[in-house]
Amino acid sequence: MTDQYNESRAGAGSVRDGENAAPRTRLRDRDAELRSVEAAVDKLCRDFAAGGTEIGELLAFSGRPGIGKTSLLHEVRRIAKLREGATVLFARGGERQFKEPYHVLRQLLQPALTSLAADEFRQVMGTWEEVVGPAMGLKQPKAGARRLDPQGVRDGLDYVLTQLAPRRAPLVMIVDDLHWADAESLSWLTQFAVRSRELPVLLVFAFREDENDWPAGILDHRKDVLGRATRKHELNRLSLVSVTDMIRAELGDKAEDAFCYEFWNVVNGNPFEAVALLDQVRDQDLEPVEENSQQLRELAVDATGMTLKSWLDRLGASTLRFAWACAMLGTDIRVDLATRISTQSAEGARDSIKQLRKQRVLTQTPNGNLEFVHPLIGSSIYNTMPEATRTGMHGVAAAEIENAGLGLLAASRHLVETFSGEGDDRTVRKLRRAAAEHLLIGAPEAAQRCLHRALNEPPADDLKAEVLYELGCSALLTDPVATVNQLKLALDPDEVPLRPALRVDATFRLSEVLAHSGELRQAALVCQEEAEHTVDPDGRRRLQAASFMWHAFRKSEEDGPGRSARLGEMCEGLAGREAVGRDAADRAVLAMRAWDLTLRGKPSVDALAHADAVLDAGRLPKGLGWTDSTWGFELPSMLGLTYTYNDRIAQAERLFADAIIQFEVAGWSGAHRGFAYFLMGLARFRRGLLAEAEDFLRRALRLSERIGPKLPLAWDAVGVLADTLLARGRVEEAWELASSFGFQPPYHATAMVLPDAASLYGKLLIAMKRHAGAAAALTEAGAQLEARGWHNTVWAPWAGHLAIAIAADEPDRAREYAQKAVHDARTFGTASAIGTALRLHAQIEDGQQAVELLEEAVMHLGQSPAGYEHAVALVDLGAALRRVGRLEDAQEYLYQGIELAQHCSAEGLVEQARRELANYGLRPNRLGLADFRETLSKPEWDVATRAVQGLPPQRIAEELGVHLSLVNRRLAAVYRKAGSGPDGLASALGLPVQPRQTARHEGEPEDGAGA
Ligand SMILES: Nc1ncnc2c1ncn2[C@@H]1O[C@H](COP(=O)(O)OP(=O)(O)O)[C@@H](O)[C@H]1O
Ligand SMILES: [Mg+2]
Repeated sequence: MTDQYNESRAGAGSVRDGENAAPRTRLRDRDAELRSVEAAVDKLCRDFAAGGTEIGELLAFSGRPGIGKTSLLHEVRRIAKLREGATVLFARGGERQFKEPYHVLRQLLQPALTSLAADEFRQVMGTWEEVVGPAMGLKQPKAGARRLDPQGVRDGLDYVLTQLAPRRAPLVMIVDDLHWADAESLSWLTQFAVRSRELPVLLVFAFREDENDWPAGILDHRKDVLGRATRKHELNRLSLVSVTDMIRAELGDKAEDAFCYEFWNVVNGNPFEAVALLDQVRDQDLEPVEENSQQLRELAVDATGMTLKSWLDRLGASTLRFAWACAMLGTDIRVDLATRISTQSAEGARDSIKQLRKQRVLTQTPNGNLEFVHPLIGSSIYNTMPEATRTGMHGVAAAEIENAGLGLLAASRHLVETFSGEGDDRTVRKLRRAAAEHLLIGAPEAAQRCLHRALNEPPADDLKAEVLYELGCSALLTDPVATVNQLKLALDPDEVPLRPALRVDATFRLSEVLAHSGELRQAALVCQEEAEHTVDPDGRRRLQAASFMWHAFRKSEEDGPGRSARLGEMCEGLAGREAVGRDAADRAVLAMRAWDLTLRGKPSVDALAHADAVLDAGRLPKGLGWTDSTWGFELPSMLGLTYTYNDRIAQAERLFADAIIQFEVAGWSGAHRGFAYFLMGLARFRRGLLAEAEDFLRRALRLSERIGPKLPLAWDAVGVLADTLLARGRVEEAWELASSFGFQPPYHATAMVLPDAASLYGKLLIAMKRHAGAAAALTEAGAQLEARGWHNTVWAPWAGHLAIAIAADEPDRAREYAQKAVHDARTFGTASAIGTALRLHAQIEDGQQAVELLEEAVMHLGQSPAGYEHAVALVDLGAALRRVGRLEDAQEYLYQGIELAQHCSAEGLVEQARRELANYGLRPNRLGLADFRETLSKPEWDVATRAVQGLPPQRIAEELGVHLSLVNRRLAAVYRKAGSGPDGLASALGLPVQPRQTARHEGEPEDGAGA
């Protein structure tokens, strides 16, 4: 038989689709589906041309094996390719490849990405090149690269697609056999299905209907895909008429009705089975007449239910061996590899291929590779392999793939299927290396498969703990429970011990994971105990410092003050040392001390001096970066928090912006990036940029919830978010958010929340006018914080709020608390702390006393970056002045308060100040604005005066030596502040009006007649 036969067997109407191996089959009984495809493609092209948004769709085809999904997808490709400008991407899952990370996405995206011109490629990749590039197999991970968080890869892919889709729109992305897509690709594809609605993208997925056909670990995605599909079709069996037609097209009109009817019954309308049975009928020269219909059932079993014996009979031993090699390789099979794996000569392989094509087992693809005619045949052949043969041949496959220069990543899928129990060092080494490579492309699960297999090899005794350690680390970013268990095993005292350096590292990592899941005490103890047995002084110091760090985050520490004193002693030893001599561990201790001093409310200058001693020219020093694994991100966080609470917010924001970018570049998209958003949200909140704060905090919360329910990160984010909502005047919303997270005593197990949860809870209760509850909660919180030695009134403003809660019933006690808060704030000494404490105190005082307290508060807050706090004090002062009858002053402070509150997006406060004004017959708005000239900055003056002289922006830019866009931005600010465009600017500035050169046209008189 010839190729021609192979291609025409599916029916008379076969045509070759330019790029694809598969013949074009005349599809029967698929009119509805094809109309749906046409409609979807039409709509996409039309909507895209019309500039529509929200036009993406997901088209899902499901059905039994052999029902015609792949054939239908071929039609989709053909239809889509006929559209002008459309880009069609295609990939398919493979039963043998579903453990190969990004197997499907690489097929799908590589052609599109590699076809981009260099500069386009850079734009499409944005900052994600080092994340998406390696995962998509477009480049090697950089030397010294860090492990990638798979969520980071997914986020990067989202970015890349939002860039790519409009450039290649309309874009049709087709994935066949989605049920065999590797987990890494599948989880992105299902996530992207939601996002793609906003893009000019049509997703088309085909997969097996039956849940049992989906590998267990990815079954959930089936539901997601079905849920997200905008058009779904379950493919039906073919009708009797169609099958009869197929039979007669092949065997002629002589085929009798009764025969066709039985045939249709036997194959149950399944086109794959129909084609296979037709082959049998023809091969056996069975007359298609009624008498013979009895034999069809038997023939059908032969056609589909092939056993080892039947394959052997049909192919012979050596050809079957070649088929096995192909079955192991799965899809897109390279002839040279199959040849070597089957240990055949080139000539033998040629014979085998010929035979296999003749037997309709394999076809050849246009690129010269081989493909099974249908995956069912590939599976059938693979499943007939005796176990020993299979594992043995996987070993050969791994070796040959490596020899062919395809790398360990590609070989490792086979390596994990090989025999274990041999104790081969080389295999263990390879598996560990493959695991490391998998981590670099964001495939921790594949890395774990390699390491588990390495453990089963097993490794030599002295390496076992090391492999366990690697196994533990492999799940660090994704699976905390597994990490804890494996690291504990790696540190098991009954096993051959880890190398000392690794022991320290393993202990630190274990403590990190424990801490991140809220087990701070455990985390601290693990480090403390290990430190006692650690001989190496650096290692010991690292563990001691880590144990301090975890204790520092604990709220109910037995010996808080004692530990703080010891930390102080450790720092004293460092104080004399020159900056250059300080190593990362020294600096780590200093950072901890800075935060410790802050929490304790010690003089701010001390905390800042310690923090500054950590930085190198304002930047994080080597070894203490956000993504450095020796110390983790806690230390830079402590530093940033110190700056945040000590009124050096700009410095903190620089650190947090770095964190966001670095986590993004490293692809650490889970808890890390979430925490960085939280920190930035907190800084923005402290600064009074409430809308931005809300945005960052909500993002942090979303990321946290994506990882798991109620992580410490969620607590942090919810706490500050509730505070932000409160500041924006959305009291009910704040309360509901906090309540829905169970934000109430005893709060979250042992971890502390930033800022103090108990103070926040009390504040919320007061806002809800539940003073009794607030009093109880704040009293208890206060007692605990005092015992712990934490007196910072910004981080934990419990005393000031307690005063308010009890003012009505116990005015004297209230005053004591308010004064204590002011006293503590003065000790701490930052402007924002003192101002806020004074403002809170003023709330329980009347008349002139309140005015005086607020005047002082406003004075302090005016010198702090705490914009919102300042606005509140201004409004409070206005109201207090109104109460003592100083209406004019009251009005001025209220106006100032309103302006600042607007700047802060504190809508509630604006409202409150307006009410205050309106209720007492004052104007709720200024009639005129303050003289805008005072608000112009020097650079704004520079452009304004030149613009008035009639210079065009380009000239101004040249004169000032700055970029044109900057000039334009400054001009826009000037016009906005002046309340006037170019024409009125001179008079608004009080400058003589000059003729405008820019408005002059050629031929017009030089002096601008009429001006
Ligand atoms: N609608 C159809 N009409 C006629 N033949 C079909 C039809 N759908 C599929 N076939 C044939 O059935 C066989 C199996 O189809 P395929 O698309 O590979 O099924 P699936 O992908 O669902 O397993 C192919 O040989 C194909 O030519
Ligand atoms: Mg198929």
